[in-house]
Amino acid sequence: MTGVVLRCEQGDITCLQVDAIVNAANSALLGGGGVDGAIHRAAGPQLLDACRALHGCPVGEARLTPGFRLPARWVIHTVGPVWQGGQRGEAGLLAACYRHCLELAGNHRLTSLAFPCISTGVYGYPRQAAAAIAVHTVTICLPRAPSIRELVFCCHSPDELAIYQGLLAA
Ligand code: APR
Repeated sequence: MTGVVLRCEQGDITCLQVDAIVNAANSALLGGGGVDGAIHRAAGPQLLDACRALHGCPVGEARLTPGFRLPARWVIHTVGPVWQGGQRGEAGLLAACYRHCLELAGNHRLTSLAFPCISTGVYGYPRQAAAAIAVHTVTICLPRAPSIRELVFCCHSPDELAIYQGLLAA
């Protein structure tokens, strides 16, 4: 992982100038609220057409579309687990989201990637636990995506930013 910049920042992921931003979607891939709604609004209606052609995505997997009107060239759509108390495989599924996004990014030789805090909004995953999985999984999987030079955890709230700052400093 030498030379890879791993950082967190607070902001709106739709404004980031990276090769790809990750969308926390649902398995229909037809848009929704939260970061999904923001990404679809910023990318424009062509994104929905591109998503329709994918015919959905299972929880834990990831799919690539162009970014259309976004500053980011690509969107990687992943479907996080709904938090159901922690005994329904949620941790493994959330880790799989990060792993599959990095695999896709690596396969497409992308150099920069930004993640939102997958599953921590509507899907209710506890923030600290989700962030620990995000940082751990990315740290383990980055060597398998050697094209990536910059990886951003884009936090919408100051609370989430503080969690990531703590984890990345450790
Ligand atoms: N930029 C960055 N992060 C954002 C933005 C944004 N513009 N908007 C929201 N977020 C953050 C939220 O604060 C939360 O921390 O994204 C995180 C994930 O929250 P959700 O968007 O609710 O995603 P998730 O919990 O994975 O639930 C997915 O929500 O809207 C639907 O279609 C989506 O059904 C799916 C579900």
